[in-house]
Amino acid sequence: MTKQDYHRERADVPPAPTGCPVHASWSPLDDDYLADPYPIAAQLAADHPVFYAESIGALVVTRMADIDAVFTDHETFASTNVQDPVFPLAPEAHDVLGAPDYDPVAVMSNRPEPDHGRIRVHTRQGFSNRRLRTLEPYIRKRSHELIDAMLGAGSPAEFVGSFAFPLPGETIFRFIGFPEADDARLKTWCGERKAFSWGRPTADQQVEIATHMVDYWRYCREFTASKRDHPGDDFASELLAAHADHPDEISYREVESVIYGLSFAGHEAITSLLCNTLLCLLPRRDQWKDICADPTLAVNAIEEVMRFESSQVSWRRITTRDTVVGDIEVPEGTTVFLNFASANRQPDIWDDPDAFDIHRPDANRHISFGKGVHFCLGARYAKFEAQVVTEILAERIPGLRLVDDQDLDYFPNITFRGPTELQIAW
Ligand code: HEM
Repeated sequence: MTKQDYHRERADVPPAPTGCPVHASWSPLDDDYLADPYPIAAQLAADHPVFYAESIGALVVTRMADIDAVFTDHETFASTNVQDPVFPLAPEAHDVLGAPDYDPVAVMSNRPEPDHGRIRVHTRQGFSNRRLRTLEPYIRKRSHELIDAMLGAGSPAEFVGSFAFPLPGETIFRFIGFPEADDARLKTWCGERKAFSWGRPTADQQVEIATHMVDYWRYCREFTASKRDHPGDDFASELLAAHADHPDEISYREVESVIYGLSFAGHEAITSLLCNTLLCLLPRRDQWKDICADPTLAVNAIEEVMRFESSQVSWRRITTRDTVVGDIEVPEGTTVFLNFASANRQPDIWDDPDAFDIHRPDANRHISFGKGVHFCLGARYAKFEAQVVTEILAERIPGLRLVDDQDLDYFPNITFRGPTELQIAW
């Protein structure tokens, strides 16, 4: 990509590090891996804790201690590549993104220190307990409305379309301050980003997504300008106030870019989290009944979902200098694929790691929100939304169950994991 650095393109893929085990065939986009990554991830980790995957041109790191070490050393393992497309883009998509006014800048997940820390100070304030509390009535009201509509239409229902997709999008849009009238087009613009940066879209799909990204960026710029003139009680207005007070600490373009990035971050992964929660809980009737009897158990249940069936099963880094990962010497410029799917079920960390247990005392040791300076800014927000929804579903539809014998489909991408549809009944 040309002038902006929000989604860069990999210049060239360095070969496997000397002496590093190489896997010539496995890919995180394989059908069997997308359907169920866990047994394959465990076997890969047992074979070689660190190896090079030719399919994605990346060093795969499988064990918690090594992932931890990578996340902790942000100078050696930069996050500048986390939004980059995995595979080269088609020239037609380049052309679309070459629009002179498409110029968001890297601000959060893909911005290196010290700038990242400078910006994060101000964005962190927007995720205060106070703002979460102001969001709670909205999450409750909207959840009840969506459940009413679902119950009204009758059992069975498709959960993604009727609940798990609309709720997180609308919630993050209210959090940011977008007007409700824009929800439909905002959902279209933001819904496809996982294909662009983490999947393998066709040239036509790339052009369509790129067009939406440019439209969405233009919308964010207009929206930010209107909030500057007419502030409200929302995240965008708070960030603009921070810019007005400290223009040298967060620039106007950085405010626009945070808004641009946040709606995707706060949307897709929660849709999957809500689905994965039902996938884990509903077939295990004893645990579901425990939650129906005591909704406070939802807090630890969500941690266990994040460990056992995370909506994010990997993340990336790139080495800024020659270094060592595990016992492998790795040159500068190497893409590192951190495999949460193996680390979150590591047998020497959790007892019986392949069992789902909402009463597990150390469920929250998972790595699904990352670690270190880039630790997920929305972790509390995401868990809170999922807890509230779980509580409400348990209270309103205790007889909720999954429709038997359904084939789940997972959107092909290297990172985000949740079924594209989920049939439920009551
Ligand atoms: C289940 C839901 C979610 C998962 C699994 C998830 C996961 C992650 C992960 C793995 C990272 C990278 C951490 C690192 O590099 O160390 C991250 C960063 C981030 N997440 Fe989330 N996230 C979720 C929900 C959210 C939500 C709801 C928001 C916003 C409302 C959000 C906003 C962010 C932001 C802004 C960053 C970048 C932080 C920084 O670089 O300082 N996330 N998330």
